[in-house]
Amino acid sequence: MEKFIIHGGEPLAGEVTIGGAKNHALKLFAASVLFEDPITIQNVPLIEDIFRMKELLEGLGAKITKTGQNTFCIDSSGISRTDLDREITKRFRASVVLVGPLLARFGRVSLPHPGGCVFGERPIDLFVAGFEQMGARFKEKDGCYVFESGTLRGADFTFRIPSVTATETLMLSAVLAQGKTTLRNAACEPEIEALAHYLNSAGAKIQEAGTQTIVIEGLGKHARLKSNKPSHVIPDRIEAGSFLILGSLLATDLRIKKCRPEHLASLIAHLEAAGVNVEVGPDWIRVCRPEKLTALDLKTREYPGFPTDLQAPFSIFLTQAKGKSQVFETVFDGRLEYMIDLKRMGAEITICDPHRAIIFGPTPLHGREIESPDIRAGLAFVIAALVAKGRSTVHNVYQIDRGYERIEKKLKQINANIKRVE
Ligand code: EPU
Repeated sequence: MEKFIIHGGEPLAGEVTIGGAKNHALKLFAASVLFEDPITIQNVPLIEDIFRMKELLEGLGAKITKTGQNTFCIDSSGISRTDLDREITKRFRASVVLVGPLLARFGRVSLPHPGGCVFGERPIDLFVAGFEQMGARFKEKDGCYVFESGTLRGADFTFRIPSVTATETLMLSAVLAQGKTTLRNAACEPEIEALAHYLNSAGAKIQEAGTQTIVIEGLGKHARLKSNKPSHVIPDRIEAGSFLILGSLLATDLRIKKCRPEHLASLIAHLEAAGVNVEVGPDWIRVCRPEKLTALDLKTREYPGFPTDLQAPFSIFLTQAKGKSQVFETVFDGRLEYMIDLKRMGAEITICDPHRAIIFGPTPLHGREIESPDIRAGLAFVIAALVAKGRSTVHNVYQIDRGYERIEKKLKQINANIKRVE
């Protein structure tokens, strides 16, 4: 078990380069099932969730080769099994995205409840409702979910609430369904649009991905996509956003390179409202810590609203802002639990209910031993430890490694005092 030892309180400065988005790369791996030939994916972050997805696909019969530093070639033509490995599936949520393409191609998939970060229940009812509307049957057998279909047919499906992975997997299945599918109240995250863009370049007929209504003309069960160029994973907006928050707290001058500022519009608007001066270029952002940070209320929303994945890092920011801030987490239940540890570091927080908390600031944070509960709260603790005076130990680094490629290397480049130890 590895941990980070962090000595906080020092100013940061320099440049950091953002890697490929976890939540785009994982879905491109899943999409490989729809292709006839091997596909090449560039700018893949070398993170634990990608390694789990690789193992999962290999277990089904795919051949995956790392052909460059961040490039993978995936040949899914040899897939013969459709029962997802129980242990691996339980380790990351994106495993559930494989259901759509496997069901469309093979007519049967079984899997346990998909794992990943634990915040609330994270049900799969939207997946079940969507696939049933496309003609699939669903049952639970021996602790596994089983989806079966003859031929998936196009459907007009409205999501009760927008879901990122459910939108993606239904979109992937609709590519090989019979007839037209319309997905309404779909999630609009940039990773979904990027996924559709690549599928379309390979023969899929998807319109308006990235909006709330996506229309897909199915090619039929026996069709396969043909890739004629590599796909390139878009920059990780959550990694970029986390560095932007860190820079607003601690940097004398921080430049965040190879990012897409337009994907961070909501975060930038919040930081500016709190008194931070953010300079934006076409693919870079520059930020430094202002004299004073002002409290403000935060409400997480689906894209293009404030991302739930930046709620924990932004709450660290709010502990250093003057006044009273309300945090309202609307996307997930139980995504405020890390605040109990944050309070132990000196933050003054009243947790009102599973969705709402009030933060009073500014309060000095002090170093202590903390454990990463999940990917994003784990990184938030690293940010808190860098703000805090003294030494902190962040345990369970595996959770952070699930989503960020060697984060300590990037942090050291901008002067952070952080060390990975066994
Ligand atoms: N929901 C249901 N029923 C379902 C599916 C979702 O009620 O069948 C609810 C969820 O419980 C939640 C809401 O819908 O309250 C939205 O959840 P969503 O399904 O959009 O989340 P997800 O697809 O499971 C993805 C990302 C998360 C990110 C959320 C929200 C991946 C692999 N995961 O999860 O990313 O927080 O969208 O943007 O794409 C992370 O990267 O650390 C992470 C947690």
